[in-house]
Amino acid sequence: MERDLNQDHRGRLTRDGIRIHDPADFAGMHKAGRLAAEILDEVIALVRPGATTAEIDAYITRRVDQAGAQSATIGYKGYRHASCISVNHVVCHGIPGSKIPKWKNDSFARTDDVLKDGDILNVDVTVIVDGWYGDSSRMYVAGEPKPYARRLIQVTHDALMLGIEAVKPGNTFGDIGHAIQSFVEAQGMSVVRDFCGHGLGRVFHAPPNVLHYGRAGTGPVLEEGMFFTIEPMVNLGRPETKVLADDWTAITRDKSLSAQFEHSVGVTRDGADIFTLSPAGRFHPTFEVA
Ligand code: MF3
Ligand code: CO
Ligand code: CO
Repeated sequence: MERDLNQDHRGRLTRDGIRIHDPADFAGMHKAGRLAAEILDEVIALVRPGATTAEIDAYITRRVDQAGAQSATIGYKGYRHASCISVNHVVCHGIPGSKIPKWKNDSFARTDDVLKDGDILNVDVTVIVDGWYGDSSRMYVAGEPKPYARRLIQVTHDALMLGIEAVKPGNTFGDIGHAIQSFVEAQGMSVVRDFCGHGLGRVFHAPPNVLHYGRAGTGPVLEEGMFFTIEPMVNLGRPETKVLADDWTAITRDKSLSAQFEHSVGVTRDGADIFTLSPAGRFHPTFEVA
């Protein structure tokens, strides 16, 4: 018999449709995750007042190509860019090169994609290396962050890491959501409900939906070999979002500031293996030299 080249069909699925990967599959995810993380490290040098989101995305496009990899987002449901760049009150899926939506603290409407001093932005990159998907995002600041922006970014980062700490066989997806939500709300901030993390592997988006809120002990039980993202979006104000007429850009309804961090992880025998760790140790903060 010919081996099925579509290795999606390897391994087994749980009753919730979640793929259990082989131990050997972790290496593929590490390679893909590492490329996404290297690119996000390199983006640090590009973010400054006066830079455009188009030029950041152009760099990412070139870099993915030079690595002999593919962008997972170009051509995905009609999306045409190698990254999503979400500025200030844009929650996610900001389109590089498009006009930055006016937010609360802008005195004038913006007419372009030029970053201003104090803007905060999430850059989200997903690459495909040898068929495996690496998906990660983190926060950057053009110039000096305002104290409230710095706090939002810190809380969002720490929420992701607390979610990852809840990853181990026997825990549930509800444990991850609960760890994130209880921490964020105790800081007086809110967790976005309209977008979630996702299973991934040899596909971009697979079961389960990884919610960033929920009740401990609910949801599917984590098993060794599951691969998924955790990517909490946290708002300074209310959690509600709306999608702009471009059908992609999601903003906070109350125009409050929003932040997001994302890692791709695998469940090991006793915890989580983070595929998208920063080789430079610069996942957070990107705006300070340690
Ligand atoms: N990378 C995003 C995620 O974390 C998905 C972006 S899809 C796109 O799942 F089409 F907007 F790029
Ligand atoms: Co993702
Ligand atoms: Co992503």
